[in-house]
Amino acid sequence: MPPRSPAWRALLAGAAAIAVLAACAPRAATTAPQTAPSATPSRGPRVTPGAPGEDRFVDSLLAMMTLEEKVGQLNQLSGLADPTGPGGVEAGAGQIRRGEVGSLFNVIGADTTRAIQHLAVTESRLHIPIVFGLDVIHGFRTTFPVPLGEAASWNPEIGRQTARIAATEAAAAGIMWTFAPMVDIARDARWGRIVEGAGEDPFLGSAFAVARTQGFQGSDLRSPTSLVATAKHFAAYGAAEAGRDYNVVDISERTLRDVYLPPFHAAVCAGVQTLMSSFNEINGVPAHANRLLTTQILRDEWGFDGMVVSDWTGIGELLNHGIGADSADVGKAAIDAGVDMDMVSEVYRKALAGLVRSGRVPQAEVDAAVRRVLALKYRLGLFSDPFRGVSAAGEQSAMVTPAYRAVAREAARQSIVLLKNDGNVLPLKKTLATVAVIGALGADTGATIGNWGGIGRPADAVSVLDGIRRALPKASVLYSRGASPSSSDTTGIAAAVATARRANAAILVVGETPDMSAEASSRATIDLPGAQMQLVRALRATGVPTVVVLMNGRPLALQELDSIMPAIVETWFLGIEHGNATADVLFGDYNPGGRLPVTFPRVTGQVPIYYAHKNTGRPSNDSTKYTSRYIDVSYTPLYPFGHGLSYTTFTTSAPRPSATTMRPGDTLQVEVDVTNSGSRAGDAVVQLYIRDDVGSITRPVRQLRGFSRVTVNAGEKRTLRFPISVRDLAFHDASMRFVAEPGTFTLFTGPDAEHGESVKFTFATSDGRPVVVADDCR
Ligand code: BGC
Repeated sequence: MPPRSPAWRALLAGAAAIAVLAACAPRAATTAPQTAPSATPSRGPRVTPGAPGEDRFVDSLLAMMTLEEKVGQLNQLSGLADPTGPGGVEAGAGQIRRGEVGSLFNVIGADTTRAIQHLAVTESRLHIPIVFGLDVIHGFRTTFPVPLGEAASWNPEIGRQTARIAATEAAAAGIMWTFAPMVDIARDARWGRIVEGAGEDPFLGSAFAVARTQGFQGSDLRSPTSLVATAKHFAAYGAAEAGRDYNVVDISERTLRDVYLPPFHAAVCAGVQTLMSSFNEINGVPAHANRLLTTQILRDEWGFDGMVVSDWTGIGELLNHGIGADSADVGKAAIDAGVDMDMVSEVYRKALAGLVRSGRVPQAEVDAAVRRVLALKYRLGLFSDPFRGVSAAGEQSAMVTPAYRAVAREAARQSIVLLKNDGNVLPLKKTLATVAVIGALGADTGATIGNWGGIGRPADAVSVLDGIRRALPKASVLYSRGASPSSSDTTGIAAAVATARRANAAILVVGETPDMSAEASSRATIDLPGAQMQLVRALRATGVPTVVVLMNGRPLALQELDSIMPAIVETWFLGIEHGNATADVLFGDYNPGGRLPVTFPRVTGQVPIYYAHKNTGRPSNDSTKYTSRYIDVSYTPLYPFGHGLSYTTFTTSAPRPSATTMRPGDTLQVEVDVTNSGSRAGDAVVQLYIRDDVGSITRPVRQLRGFSRVTVNAGEKRTLRFPISVRDLAFHDASMRFVAEPGTFTLFTGPDAEHGESVKFTFATSDGRPVVVADDCR
């Protein structure tokens, strides 16, 4: 008979309240008169997140555990498909009683999680609570824009707010840990998971990594509205060869450190408590067996003291990678590398105790992993309140409040990018008598929710068609399906053409279904799928004024569409307020200000394509043969990184650095004026890029180093100030030292990564040699 009162209860006496976890304020730009804050990614001062009393508690509990119980804490299982059904509990009940389960995920609901937790804390020998995880990616019940879309807001504050709400809702349903944010840099649009991250750029990506981490975790992990966050997938998953999911990655350590790791480091500095290993190998070593990544870089260099979880069966898959002959081999490889918790594959549960007893894995290595799992539970306050106060009533009232809906609409509006607007076709007039909405996606409420939509419900969502009907209560709004992304059937096109002909304007909604840009959804061709291009051509032939609304989770190759349609609006998958936000933009109630967080190619063959490329010895030039180019398509993108139009116009000044020479300890203040030269207020996104003109290692043609989204009234001028320090100049040199090299640098400002004004400054060191820069939290 297990004891009624947990043996560890006494250990808690005297343990002070858990420390407030470090929530580093963004590195705000200092402001001049009329200055707006700059959203630069903050690494913030590093704060060791260990809670008071944690070490003593964890050590004492560890001392009570058998080897099997320790291994049990490293075992994470998924609930059954129907998470509220009895099967989820029953299936694991025996294992939970035996202390074989440290964490469960895909189990949702206050009552269900309480029932399982009750089992763990009353019927297992040591009463250790379970930590419940879930993929809460862009909302729980209130769905927000998919992460790539939200990054198009260039407003990390929105990312923080939506993550906070997602955490509040999910926590009310018994969830304690989200497998988000996904911070993988992605430069190959064929890769379906590009939708889950913040796009191609480490600087923008770091800003969103910080904001989302802080949003999920809140200021105190013990709060019943906080979730532990996970920076995933560690690392370089987005660099999968040929954009094929799970494929190998072969990149230099420099590219790894300069491009793929910064958002992870930023998340660690922001206090993220867990990381998830990635499915890919890197230079021959699978991430789940990669000690360089998981121990040397993550723990030794960055000082991470949280927990690392595997991806789904990632440890077992080491067998397929071919780096071990049996479970014991791969279990040893993973625990040696520093992977603490085994998601689903049960390799640890089956092999780890044997590995310790046979001496192949040191007991201390297992203890270290268990310590991290227990520390996580301690930091969540689970040893004080394993249920975190969840109740069915609280769960019900926590979901989709009017305030959450308002944030969902604002996030959605800010994420929309006006790609093209020839002749100011947009905004459309609200006085139009008849409007036709064409395209299967236009009436698809489910699609608005996007991939990884949590428990978002189509019934809560507003389609484009519904949004337009609400915006135009007096107009006749017609609808015809025309064509769909998932079928080559063209039989609906004639009816769509007839419908459009009856209207004063047509709104053509085309793109992808949400499951086309998702895990295991790489595409070899990123054109508009199905018969949608035929529909576009047919609509064009009618001569009816037509605007295109895109719904998609990756850059698409839109060369032909762009060449025949005057107005194109990128709406991604915006969540439950998709239709309202889209109508706000189409009819001018909201002036779009989103900018692309990722480059759009002309054709698939251009990918990977990204703005921070190298110059090469033969810089691209479409009119010169022996340069780095294609003979059948321009080397330039269709829409560059940072691109996005507005219903007003902005002029951006050349950057004005506070000095022409910078020294290692200096912070250069770079001022930029942005003036609204049009006739209505709008949001400008000022972008500051830098180029190291000469380096011992070739440098990208531009790198983002500051940005700020600001509202500017018609005729108004605002001045922004961006700090540039030695860290902003640094890169990994031939010996993998993080250095800034003396010489000239060019600063660029402008509307996107391809255009704008520039100015040079000089970086000087006392002896004319490079300086080594600390690659620590800012
Ligand atoms: C994905 C992860 C996810 C996990 C759990 C895996 O297939 O790669 O991103 O967190 O499943 O659902």
